[in-house]
Amino acid sequence: MVRFASAALLMSLPALSLAATPALAAVDGAQVFATQCKMCHQGASNALAPSLAGVADAKIAARDDFAYSPALKAKGGTWTDATLDAFLKSPAAFAPGTKMFLGPQSDENRAAVIGYLHTLK
Ligand code: HEC
Repeated sequence: MVRFASAALLMSLPALSLAATPALAAVDGAQVFATQCKMCHQGASNALAPSLAGVADAKIAARDDFAYSPALKAKGGTWTDATLDAFLKSPAAFAPGTKMFLGPQSDENRAAVIGYLHTLK
């Protein structure tokens, strides 16, 4: 109900103010990360998950401050957008036995969060 009300409100905004906020309709990768990743990936590596700083284009399971599963360790290769997409779509299919599990991700949310991963340095 609230959702419908706010959608109606948005549609009634003048075109000018919508044009001034182009990010409104796009999925925000930082937002996806905050709600679906950050509970485990909290910055530095911790007991729950490795740090994701610089993970885009890095070797898979290459940090020495996190005890990866043997499954991810054995995977080899690099985190390209394609391997990140496959892993986030289905961690268990990408690396059977991985310690990371994840609920369903829409194509849009995965693309947005992968974009956000590129900003983590
Ligand atoms: C329930 C905790 C948890 C959540 C939620 C979670 N992860 Fe992970 N993530 C892990 C663990 C644990 C690993 C290490 C997996 C292994 O060793 O098999 C990992 C590994 C990764 C890696 C590989 C890191 C490396 O150094 O190779 C990436 C990339 C990643 N996660 C991204 C994400 C993203 C993006 C999200 C949100 C969409 C997310 N994770 C949500 C626990 C989590």
